[in-house]
Formats: sequence, structure tokens, C-alpha cells
Amino acid sequence: MKTGIYVHIPFCRSKCFYCDFLSFACKKKNSAQDFDLYLKKLLGEINNCAELKKSYIETIFFGGGTPSILPHEFIYKILDAIYKNSLGTTKKNPEITIESNPESLNQEKICAYKSYGINRISIGLQAIQDKFLKKIGRAHNFKTFERVYDIAKKFFNNINIDLIFALPDQNLSDWEENLRYIKKIQPEHFSAYSLIIEKDTKFYFANQKNKLNLPDENLERQMYHTIKKILCDYKQYEISNWAREKKFECRHNKIYWQLKNYLGFGLGAHSFFNNMRWHNTNNLKKYLTQNNFREEIIKSTRQSLIEEFIFLGLRLNQGVNKNKFKKKFGCEINNIYHNQISLLTKQKLLAENKNFIFLTNYGRDLANHVMSNFIL
Ligand SMILES: C[S@@+](CC[C@H](N)C(=O)[O-])C[C@H]1O[C@@H](n2cnc3c(N)ncnc32)[C@H](O)[C@@H]1O
Ligand code: SF4
Repeated sequence: MKTGIYVHIPFCRSKCFYCDFLSFACKKKNSAQDFDLYLKKLLGEINNCAELKKSYIETIFFGGGTPSILPHEFIYKILDAIYKNSLGTTKKNPEITIESNPESLNQEKICAYKSYGINRISIGLQAIQDKFLKKIGRAHNFKTFERVYDIAKKFFNNINIDLIFALPDQNLSDWEENLRYIKKIQPEHFSAYSLIIEKDTKFYFANQKNKLNLPDENLERQMYHTIKKILCDYKQYEISNWAREKKFECRHNKIYWQLKNYLGFGLGAHSFFNNMRWHNTNNLKKYLTQNNFREEIIKSTRQSLIEEFIFLGLRLNQGVNKNKFKKKFGCEINNIYHNQISLLTKQKLLAENKNFIFLTNYGRDLANHVMSNFIL
């Protein structure tokens, strides 16, 4: 079975004000012990995973949190365990990504990652202006990013940069400065996410007290559309993702969007394998102390698979593949959704060609509305 592997590292230097990802700010003096305990448990999980033993590895993604906060030898041990417990890799060289934060990267780590076979590095920049980095609670400044990016470039020819727009007090020209910087340094890939005010984050509470000056919806959409104008040499292939060439599109994320098999290891990690879905507990104590930490193990129904195939497929610019839909579900997509597709097409939210149904530019602005029409 071809499989993507996700490994979750739930530690960060500090907690950014907008972030509700499953991660903990770690105090330096306790962190070595926390990391050791976590690694031990993670290796146990990998060694005992029956599904991994039936898998050929297509991609590996270290996500977080901040995977680069760990000593690099931990990453080696995790990779080694994955290889030893699987059937090997697929014929195509696997894509192996590590997410990182500038303040926890250095030449030694970057060089070690390369020697372990990691071939894609993702760096969270978020913004180039220190005043915004400070405002959103990032632990790095722009100078630190520049330094580690220069080192990363020496070792990697596939680098992703994460950005966030529609930040408090950000105007269009602030955002455009970020885009012009990306144009200048030409990473192989970048992601640009519109800020989401997530529940129970610092920003959530500040916003409730009306203390965040957030861009309005019009400005937020203008910021989104300006990406295409300034970075016209990049190809957008998903709502929030752009690649310089097709070969740099993130293979791991495409496994999610194309509803293929993946196994998640570590705290809170999600898996989809053989039409079964589950996730690990979000409770660190439970993860570290118990053996049975898989939760909500659910066999997907045909209906839920159809809906997911469409929601995920529509995120991609190429859209939902009609032939693959037919092969997977035994009928034409138009037989099930004829009314929805013709209405949304009339409204210029969807378009169709011979093989695909996809969101128009206008449809991408109203993606949630379009997708809600496909709930059976
Ligand atoms: C798993 S997260 C963090 C990876 C890494 N620790 C970092 O901070 O760069 C991946 C990306 O999601 C984006 N992100 C996280 N929270 C967000 C939010 N509330 N709104 C918009 N984007 C967010 C950020 O761009 C972040 O780099
Ligand atoms: S955005 Fe990244 S560094 Fe910041 S708290 Fe979230 S996972 Fe950690």
C-alpha cells in the first residue's frame, strides 16, 4: 500500500498569538527530558504500527509544532524506525519534508537533515517586517530568517516559505512588501494563509475585547488577489499554495487532498488508511503513559468518501477528477450532483472541462459556500 507518513512534534519555543495547533511552549530547563520521553513513545508507536508494516513510503512530513526544535539526531532515529518498520519506499524517491522555525535552525541541523535524506524544508517566515513578527508573537526576527534561509539554500533545492496575511494593522502595501520579497528570493514553493482567529488563542481574547484592528473582508480579498498579480511567475495549485514549477508542488499535502492513504504518528496525529479514519489522543499525558491512544476510529461510508473527495479535490486548482470519481464510486459525478453543478456553474462559481470540475477565481473567494452545496 502506498502511504504518506506524518510525524507530529508538539513543541515550540513559545506560543504564537494566533496559533491553535497542538503544540506547547517548552521551558528550556525541562525540554530535554520532555523530548526524550516523547521520542521514546513515538518510536514505540512506529515500531508497533501494523498498518506501517504493509506500507510503501511515498512521503514523510515532520510537522508541528516545531520539528526543528528537536536535536537533529532524534529526526534520524524517527526516520530509521519508519524505514525499518515499512516495506520500503515507492519507486519514486520519497519526498521528505521538515517544518522549521528560523530561531531553531542552524547550519549543523540543516546539514544533518540533508545527510538523513530530507529533501524539502519548510520555514515559517509569516512576515518580513519585525513590527508584525512581534505583534503576532513570533520568536524570530527578519534578520534571523535571512541568515538561515541563506544556509538552507546551500543544502536544499526545495524550500517552502509560510506567510500569513490579513494581520492586525496590516495594510495592502505592507503585504505587498512581503510578496515582492518572495519574488526576489524565489523559493521553490510558498504558502500564504489568511489569518484565522482561532478559539482560545491570545488573538481570540484580544479580538473579543475589540483590541485587534483586523483588515475588513474587502481588504483581505484584495490581499489574496494581489498574490497572483505580484507572483505571476508562480503556479497556484491549491487555495493557499504556490509552486515555481509542477515538480515543487507538495506531494505530501496532495496525498491529503486526493484522499490517499496516510498514517500519522505522535500526539493528535490523524490517519486515513484503507478507508478507516482515526486520530491519536490530544492529551499529552495520555499519549505518554497509555498504550491505547487511538480515538474515533471510524470506517468511512460511501457518502462521507464522496463528500470528502469533492471538498478536498475542489481545494486544488485542477479540481475534482471526474474519471477518478467514476472509478472510485462507480458512477458519474454529474449523476449525483447534476443540480448543484449546473446551478453553481450558472453562478460562475464552478467550471468544467473534459476531465475536471473546478472552482473559478470567484468560486475560490466563496469556497466554503460552494462546498456546502455538496453535502449529501
Ligand atoms: C503547522 S503551522 C506551523 C509551522 C511552524 N511551527 C511555523 O510556525 O512556521 C503551519 C503554518 O500554518 C499557518 N498558520 C498557523 N496558524 C494560523 C492561523 N491561525 N491563521 C492562518 N495561518 C495559520 C502558519 O503560516 C504556519 O507557518
Ligand atoms: S505557529 Fe508554529 S511556532 Fe507558532 S505556536 Fe504555532 S506551531 Fe508553534
